[in-house]
Formats: sequence, C-alpha cells, structure tokens
Amino acid sequence: MSTSKRSRLDRFLSAKLGINRGDVRLMLAKKHVMVDGIAATDIQQQVNAFTHVALVDQAGGDSVTVLQDNQPQYWMMNKPIGVVSATADEQHKTVIDLLPASDVSDLHIAGRLDLNSSGLLLLTNDGRWSRALSEPSAGVGKCYRVRLEKPLTEDYIQAFAEGMYFSYEDITTRPVVLTIISDYVAELRLVEGRYHQIKRMFGRFRNPVLALHRISIGNLLLDETLMPGQYRPLTDREVKEIV
Ligand code: URA
Repeated sequence: MSTSKRSRLDRFLSAKLGINRGDVRLMLAKKHVMVDGIAATDIQQQVNAFTHVALVDQAGGDSVTVLQDNQPQYWMMNKPIGVVSATADEQHKTVIDLLPASDVSDLHIAGRLDLNSSGLLLLTNDGRWSRALSEPSAGVGKCYRVRLEKPLTEDYIQAFAEGMYFSYEDITTRPVVLTIISDYVAELRLVEGRYHQIKRMFGRFRNPVLALHRISIGNLLLDETLMPGQYRPLTDREVKEIV
C-alpha cells in the first residue's frame, strides 16, 4: 500500500494474503485479525499505511504474524545551498543523501526549495500530512528571508501584496506580505509555491535574489540549532500543530 492510501480491511487482507473475500470474512468472524491491537470484525473498517495489522491464532496456537507495521516519519532539515530537493539526481547531492540510509525509506519532500535556496525543509512518508500542508485551501504560510542585489523600496510592498500575473502559468500570485528588514534584506510570507516564485517576483523589479532562506512553514520554525545539512525528527506536537 502506498504511504497515503486508505483501504477497506477486507480488500487489504485479500490483496495481502492472496485469498478471496469469503475467506477474509471467515478470518474476521473467528477474530483472527488484529487491527491496532484490537480484534477486527468489520470488513468495512478502514486501514491506512500506518495501521498495524496482524494475524493471530491461525493454527489454533498463539502465533502472531505481522502483516503491516509502518511507522510515520517526519523530519525537519536545514537544507544547505547546493543540494537538490529531490530523492534522486544525476548531477548533485540530494537532501535524501544527507539522511542516514536506514531512515529514508519512502520519504518525500513536503515543499521543495531551489538548489541555491536554504533553510527549513520537511521530509515525510505520510502523504496525507504533506498533502494537507500543500492544499491551497489550507493557506499554510511559508516565510522566507531574502537578500537582494539592489536596495528595496516601499513600492515592493504593494506590488507583492497585489499579486503578479505570470503568463506562463496564466495565474496571478496570491497576496504576499513583504516586510523590509533593511536596505537589502526582506522577509516574505507566501501561501503558495509557484516555480521560482520569489526570484521571479523580484525579477519584475530587475533585482536579483542573492540569498533565499526559508524560516518557517505554518507554525513550525526552523530549529536554529540545526547547522546547514543537519536534521531532526519533528516532535508529535510539531506534527500536529504545524497547520
Ligand atoms: N521561491 C524561489 O524562487 N525559490 C525557492 O526556493 C522558494 C521560493
């Protein structure tokens, strides 16, 4: 099962064990199937990739066969410049290469950063969680600090708030809150992530972005104790409270 799909228990068991649904019903009636530690009886019970499923008492003994035992994983990384936000790349090192090999199974990136951008990057094997974060209707804000080649002016604030038309995608960007920190440094809050969006928006002012660092996603701030390339698991609370 992929890491995000839900399935009915009878379909899951039938596919996993290669048996027909009649036999599945029989197993359930005999209370031979444990779902998250409780004997399952309902064929319609939903299971997902992180539901623990085991068979018990198969041959009248007390044997247990675990059918599924996946743990959700949630990592934050301080992405360094020069590393690709991808799971595989022929030219560059990827963020996955920075994680210990034993921990990377099925991980994907929840919101990429460009090769030359740095900062908060989230990796997970939980597709539902990452989709909820990127769902446009959720409007999860992402904050960035940028350093520019030329000085900023107040004009930027209004232009970013109004949105900019990108003809290639035929969209107008959603309002971006831009705060001028100093002549060459600004902080931005975006609720979407179009291709190279920040660089293209400053491009309208012919002002190249020299550095771009993501500092937060939703309520989650980059842990400042993480040096570039370092990572740590999210706490349960961070996983729940990010949105
Ligand atoms: N916008 C960009 O241009 N680059 C990023 O990495 C993120 C947002």
